[in-house]
Amino acid sequence: MARTKRMSGGSVRLIKLCLIGICSACLICGLTSASGHSKADDDDCVKCHTRAAGRTGEVVGIHRASTHGKSGVGCTGCHGGDPAQPDKVKAHVGNFVGKPDANLTLAMCGRCHQQQLAQFKTSRHFPERRGSPRIDCADCHGAHSIGNPPEGFSIAQFCAGCHGLEYLPALPQPFQDLLTLSDELRDGVNRLSARGRGPSDEIIEQRKKIRRLTAEIVHPTDRDGGLERIPQILSQGEKLKLQLKSR
Ligand code: HEC
Ligand code: HEC
Ligand code: HEC
Ligand code: HEC
Ligand code: HEC
Repeated sequence: MARTKRMSGGSVRLIKLCLIGICSACLICGLTSASGHSKADDDDCVKCHTRAAGRTGEVVGIHRASTHGKSGVGCTGCHGGDPAQPDKVKAHVGNFVGKPDANLTLAMCGRCHQQQLAQFKTSRHFPERRGSPRIDCADCHGAHSIGNPPEGFSIAQFCAGCHGLEYLPALPQPFQDLLTLSDELRDGVNRLSARGRGPSDEIIEQRKKIRRLTAEIVHPTDRDGGLERIPQILSQGEKLKLQLKSR
């Protein structure tokens, strides 16, 4: 539940209690031996979790509809453990990580997304001296719903849950426009798919390009570089929005 709340904006954990910073170092060694890809639908993690009540079972369907679920990244890609064990205790073993804190989440995601992690570590969201990020990958992206966030989720509103409230000034308008664009493009593509018209390859490529350019500003919280580059991204975005509408 905590994740859903965080992702629907508003209340965001400002501080994550991480007492054991060394954990993340262990995790990196531990997890690198886990297989990144597993056949998501026929391992025992999925078989047992599908039958489980509540959140323990719900995550399976959410993950399946996510970009990871569709790209062959299974439960073990993130959580480790032994997917060939029908018994819970034997499955949750070794390098298994159940509920990661902020530092463990960075290590978990950074195993496959090294470039994004490296950029994030240069950001204002990662003050090194605190030993823990202000906000981690899963706060912005979700854990199981990556690429397919819950209905009504808005990244623009999510950022505004800190920037522009109480202690932080609002993000500069071009940043807000960039985040709104990200929401609009996601919705636009989803609307096409809902009407049974998958977006063309060209649209998908263009969407990916804009996503990458956006990420390269947001991950390092590059305020000055952002102000320079955002106008160009917005104009590419306007063109893509027109293409989305005309289909
Ligand atoms: C035989 C059933 C079973 C199998 C097999 C199983 N799990 Fe679980 N898992 C559970 C149950 C039940 C829970 C709920 C918490 C508990 O009872 O420990 C759980 C909890 C979890 C959690 C939440 C962590 C926590 O501390 O609550 C994660 C993550 C998880 N499982 C991942 C996996 C992965 C990855 C695999 C495969 C390597 C796997 N599970 C295999 C039954 C299973
Ligand atoms: C992209 C990485 C990733 C993948 C893939 C993934 N998880 Fe998770 N999972 C996480 C993270 C991060 C958390 C901690 C969430 C939080 O703090 O809210 C988590 C938490 C959980 C929990 C605890 C309940 C919750 O929602 O907090 C369960 C149960 C779980 N995962 C099971 C699974 C199962 C089963 C699969 C495969 C179907 C899976 N996970 C795939 C990253 C992942
Ligand atoms: C085992 C490797 C692996 C792990 C671990 C992993 N990912 Fe991914 N991720 C992938 C792959 C593969 C893709 C799909 C790449 C593509 O289509 O270009 C992807 C795609 C993504 C995307 C783009 C989604 C979209 O469609 O917009 C985001 C965001 C993302 N991952 C975030 C995360 C986060 C956050 C975590 C940790 C909670 C994580 N990943 C953990 C392999 C991984
Ligand atoms: C949990 C609260 C929180 C959330 C949510 C959050 N930020 Fe931040 N952000 C901060 C804090 C704290 C700083 C550091 C301010 C400082 O160093 O003075 C910061 C700094 C920044 C900066 C650098 C500002 C500067 O003047 O250099 C940018 C850019 C930024 N954030 C963008 C974003 C974006 C985009 C999002 C959403 C995708 C977001 N933030 C979500 C708390 C948050
Ligand atoms: C402050 C919020 C925020 C945090 C924290 C964050 N991201 Fe992102 N990330 C974004 C935004 C915004 C995008 C662009 C998404 C879009 O437009 O669809 C993005 C895009 C991505 C993509 C797709 C990149 C591409 O080139 O297409 C990946 C992968 C990703 N993030 C992984 C991560 C990982 C791993 C972490 C943690 C180290 C992380 N993100 C932390 C906001 C965040």
